Amino acid sequence: MSSQTTTDALAAQLNAALAAAAAEVETALADLLPAEEGAEARLCAAMRYATLGGGKRMRAFLVLETAALFGVDRGCAARVAASVEMLHAYSLIHDDLPAMDDDDLRRGKPSAHKQFDEATAILAGDALQARAFELLGELATHSSPEARCELVVALGHAVGARGMCGGQMIDILAEGQVLTAEQIGRLQALKTGRLIQYSAEAGAILGRAPLHQRHLIAAYGRDLGTAFQIADDVLDATGTEAEVGKAVGKDAAAGKATLVAVLGLERAQAQADALAAQAAAHLESFGESAAMLRQLAALVVARRK
Ligand code: IPE
Ligand code: IPE
Ligand code: MG
Ligand code: MG
Ligand code: MG
Repeated sequence: MSSQTTTDALAAQLNAALAAAAAEVETALADLLPAEEGAEARLCAAMRYATLGGGKRMRAFLVLETAALFGVDRGCAARVAASVEMLHAYSLIHDDLPAMDDDDLRRGKPSAHKQFDEATAILAGDALQARAFELLGELATHSSPEARCELVVALGHAVGARGMCGGQMIDILAEGQVLTAEQIGRLQALKTGRLIQYSAEAGAILGRAPLHQRHLIAAYGRDLGTAFQIADDVLDATGTEAEVGKAVGKDAAAGKATLVAVLGLERAQAQADALAAQAAAHLESFGESAAMLRQLAALVVARRK
């Protein structure tokens, strides 16, 4: 087989695996999100609206795929994948609010605050975050209380003040400011990288992986996460609304601190490509079993959505 045929075959295999993971997490989410019942049904409807039926489900895929490396029960991994997608959906709802990026389109549909209203959107984000943590602590997620506790603590670390929320704070403060490439790297590692890193590491936590393997997976997630955000910034500058399902050209208009703004498109893309290659290299020692994860790194920086 030529190397191009091998690459095409791997890409097709990855697309199939991504679609399968998306279907699997969709079923889990539909089951694990609160039903639209009671006087608070509107809140549950907004949670379901923002979480179900859209998104690439890359974070879910990372959980499922890294969990598979360690032979984790698929049902347990799907619960953690659902938790990560709920947390991510919350972050997008809040990110789109008028007080933050003020975006009216998300995943090709009206953002939650447009479909419902701001108060409902804020509460839906809050409740999704709570449900994400609750889910991790439930007995069905892992038989070991220590493993469940580790999942909860690591997620808290990934998305709190020194993680995603901290990164979002820096992102807002940096609007209209000139940051160095290094400062932007930290901003991106926090606002996007940490949750992606967690998604990868969650499989290792579930699988009680040896520390050296967990560290390799964490390093993979870290580089993949930053590459992913650079690619998002490139798409904001070069993609169309139809491709990405959200407004484009907003970063430049808002004066966001991105590598595209500081280095230009070409050098930003080169940085993303280098990080993706580095991410894949961390998983060499896993051999064939990590082929899809390595291929994902290539996809993340070549994507058009
Ligand atoms: C969007 O994430 C927010 C960023 C961190 C750039 P995704 O591009 O993964 O969004 P969905 O889940 O596919 O909609
Ligand atoms: C969002 O970054 C990161 C989080 C939601 C934590 P962006 O603001 O660039 O994401 P999009 O482009 O709105 O999806
Ligand atoms: Mg933002
Ligand atoms: Mg945004
Ligand atoms: Mg963006």
